[in-house]
Amino acid sequence: MVRQAAPYRFNKCVGCGLPHQKPEPCTSARYNGQTNMTSEEKTTHFGYETVPTDEKAGRVRQVFDSVANKYDLMNDLMSFGIHRLWKRQAIELSGVRKGQRVLDLAAGTGDLSARFSGLVGSDGLVVFSDINAAMLTRGRDRMADEGHIGNLEYVQADAQYLPFPDDHFDCVTIGFGLRNVTDKQLALNAIFRVLRPGGRLLVLEFSKPTSKPLEKLYDIYSFSLLPKIGKLVTNDEASYRYLAESIRMHPDQETLKAMMEQAGLERCEYFNLTGGVVAIHRGYKF
Ligand SMILES: C[S@@+](CC[C@H](N)C(=O)[O-])C[C@H]1O[C@@H](n2cnc3c(N)ncnc32)[C@H](O)[C@@H]1O
Repeated sequence: MVRQAAPYRFNKCVGCGLPHQKPEPCTSARYNGQTNMTSEEKTTHFGYETVPTDEKAGRVRQVFDSVANKYDLMNDLMSFGIHRLWKRQAIELSGVRKGQRVLDLAAGTGDLSARFSGLVGSDGLVVFSDINAAMLTRGRDRMADEGHIGNLEYVQADAQYLPFPDDHFDCVTIGFGLRNVTDKQLALNAIFRVLRPGGRLLVLEFSKPTSKPLEKLYDIYSFSLLPKIGKLVTNDEASYRYLAESIRMHPDQETLKAMMEQAGLERCEYFNLTGGVVAIHRGYKF
């Protein structure tokens, strides 16, 4: 059984609508849970499909329920193992040290959490969090199998509504997770709230290739080859077509940087990896 948000459990703030520990409602614009959506906009993207906003999380859940068992194998196959280098770079840019408290959102099977667990040591804490119970269970089993125990907490949570106190984490990461979140600005605002002053957010995500020839090659690979590999390995072509489409619908480098700034993060910058196929965004809360 995956523990549900314990020991982090807070009531919804009547000011910002997010769960946190402040006894009084938020008044700061930084905490107002702003989103890009107006009340008329009740639809969102699921890959290239337009779907009712409240259906997206369920559709994303079906994708990860379906691929959970073969997730690690598919990651290696799809990226030719390069995802390990992208993750290593994210860890280096995080600057996480012994004794720190890290929140790994959309942690999946826990590649980032595993490394953070070693870095923070026995005085630190890694909160391993994902919205999806199948992924979380798989990740938790893997952590135990690999001997990562004692400084990990498992919390099933939606990145948009974080059940953690304000000013709580030294570092928050979200690796290949943000593009699946329905309201990305809401998630960035929530992350800002739970970061402590001096803390930083790292977003590791697919992004926009920086050269036209690479973009063309990447399109051919992701729309022709990727769904076929998905079909062969997981018998699920549709989930891997969603992957390719969701990458194209994700904000590009500059747009995501602006969204992080809108959430209140400062010194925001990004690092293109593999010609911009992937980017790491980093921003600080001061
Ligand atoms: C592609 S996996 C990434 C896993 C891992 N971080 C990695 O880099 O290998 C994306 C993860 O995002 C999770 N996810 C999707 N929507 C989410 C949300 N709204 N809040 C938190 N996690 C979410 C999925 O359940 C899935 O485990």
